[in-house]
Amino acid sequence: MLYESVRVNEITQGLPDIFLLNEASFMKSFEKSYYIYDLLYSDKDYKNECELIDKLIKDYKPQSKKILDYGCGTGKHAFILAQNGYDIVGLDISAEMLSMARKRCEDSPNVLFESYGWLSNADKIDVCIAMFDVISYLNSNREINEFFLKIKHILNPGGLIIFDFWHGPSVCYLNPENRWKHHKSGDIEIIRLTQPVHNRTECNVTVKHDVLVIENNKVVDKFIEYHSMRYFFKKEMDIILDYHGFKILELGTINDYKKSPTEKDWSAFICAKVI
Ligand SMILES: C[S@@+](CC[C@H](N)C(=O)[O-])C[C@H]1O[C@@H](n2cnc3c(N)ncnc32)[C@H](O)[C@@H]1O
Repeated sequence: MLYESVRVNEITQGLPDIFLLNEASFMKSFEKSYYIYDLLYSDKDYKNECELIDKLIKDYKPQSKKILDYGCGTGKHAFILAQNGYDIVGLDISAEMLSMARKRCEDSPNVLFESYGWLSNADKIDVCIAMFDVISYLNSNREINEFFLKIKHILNPGGLIIFDFWHGPSVCYLNPENRWKHHKSGDIEIIRLTQPVHNRTECNVTVKHDVLVIENNKVVDKFIEYHSMRYFFKKEMDIILDYHGFKILELGTINDYKKSPTEKDWSAFICAKVI
């Protein structure tokens, strides 16, 4: 905690007083930001992503019925895919994100949200999706291996795994930098300062978010969150997927899954199947 305080003071030097937070304000990942997540990413095109998922399923595993949405967040993919007729199980490590997802899908009878332990005794699934950086939250080799091992175990023969991840060549080439995000929606305003620390040895970026939530011109919340993001290279993904018994069908970008990701594409996208 002392370490954290020192870093905050270092980093916030020169910032407006409003950004000076006390120790109690520290939170991990989505523990604090879950309730503004949908606002922050309101420009993300979930509908389009679900169309892509649907297309890949129709191309590569057309009889699919049951989808696991791993790292489902607030349940946006789950909601849309359920409307398209799939049965969805949503899992997330964050109880707060899951509570948002449950609320979104409360009238969707073919969506279930489960706690993390569900994976150990799960029924078979046809497809697993892990969209929007979920794999990059699995920082250690142990977490990555456990994930693919468990998913392989519960996928039906020929089942698919569809996911994106931070793309190593791009993260190293573009190098993460400090950023501001200002979002306004109705009476709510969010100001987010992002400060990354790039650890090239570990292929990891620790992203620190200082967040202010303002309602009717008054600060109603302020907090800090850390997101520890791992990036991967194509050769690494080849080895991981091959080792766990998957064949890569498509490796591209979310906007064009047929185009090889370049050093300008921060995120890469994979569709693979059980062999
Ligand atoms: C950027 S959000 C993406 C959420 C959702 N898939 C979407 O597209 O909006 C990343 C999600 O991964 C979840 N997550 C992080 N680590 C995880 C883990 N080890 N197991 C399951 N979910 C995890 C987070 O809680 C968060 O909801």
